[in-house]
Amino acid sequence: MKTRITELFGIEHPIIQGGMHYVGFAELAAAVSEAGGLGIITGLTQKTPEDLDKEIKKAKELTDKPIGVNLTFLPITTAPDYPGYIDAIVGNGIKAVETAGNNPQQYLPKLKENGVKVIHKCTAVRHALKAQKIGCDAVSVDGFECGGHPGEDDIPNMILLPRAADELDIPFVSSGGQADARSLVASLAMGAEGMNMGTRFIATKEAPVHQNVKDAIVAASELDTRLVMRPLRNTERVLNNAAVEKLLAKEKELGDSIQFQDIMEEVAGVYPSIMMEGDMDKGAWSCGMVAGLINDIPTCKELIDGIMADADKIINDRLKGFQAA
Ligand SMILES: Cc1cc2nc3c(=O)[nH]c(=O)nc-3n(C[C@H](O)[C@H](O)[C@H](O)COP(=O)(O)O)c2cc1C
Repeated sequence: MKTRITELFGIEHPIIQGGMHYVGFAELAAAVSEAGGLGIITGLTQKTPEDLDKEIKKAKELTDKPIGVNLTFLPITTAPDYPGYIDAIVGNGIKAVETAGNNPQQYLPKLKENGVKVIHKCTAVRHALKAQKIGCDAVSVDGFECGGHPGEDDIPNMILLPRAADELDIPFVSSGGQADARSLVASLAMGAEGMNMGTRFIATKEAPVHQNVKDAIVAASELDTRLVMRPLRNTERVLNNAAVEKLLAKEKELGDSIQFQDIMEEVAGVYPSIMMEGDMDKGAWSCGMVAGLINDIPTCKELIDGIMADADKIINDRLKGFQAA
């Protein structure tokens, strides 16, 4: 398949693995890229720019194909060393960066000077237009279904993608709720030129997370995610568990007076225990509604090859079959 996204990033298939905290390590990113998609290392999971430098070098030993790095611009006052992370990215010849969170404008010149293509993840058409205006090369349109931070507008992809198609000139991929060939073909039909998957890529053989995490995704249905931190306007879609129920009870009890400090125990620094040690009730961790569509743990190559083969069947058999003679 050839789309503006495959051309932009020099990849074989229009499938991207979104940055994921404590999941997007070298092993996963390299496996996705090696399978013809765009694998992405999560920048901020690496504690320092030096660590990111090492992680990128590790991924490059595993694949010669293009890989990307996610830079999430957090809404916090003491910012991580973003210029240092960008030095590690450009110093290693990385040509794809997925930005997310706050506006990446101040960091774009350095990335562009070094030939890096930037795809910004947005949950609203107005943010996508802003990304286009400041010079991003593409956007990832993240619907309300998504694992992680869906924003505060609650617009699902069935509406958000065609809305984005109506407004944008730069190419975009669908993100949130994407799992298989049906997702890809539907995304293309709605104007996207590829798809970004998060949760689906956690349940793969190469994802370097504890088996309990993969099993929890396979066991979950589409009914098992919850939205937390809505009162703080930092909404996150997570898999329900004991900690999430405790967190939601606090939100109910404290109402508008709730502060981040009240829920630190359930959200701050919980990822290493969950993802590495498989301590599934340790806290809230991002997971999409798409868990309801995930029933197996394939390799990244099996997953991507299967999606592309099935997409071909949907387009050429099922859809063409509907055309009246
Ligand atoms: C466990 C997990 C961690 C994530 N961490 C990040 C992150 O650090 N930065 C980011 O931009 N997106 C993050 N995301 C969002 C994904 O990149 C992607 O946009 C999202 O998972 C798409 O929705 P899906 O899970 O329905 O595929 C995370 C998602 C998950 C499931």
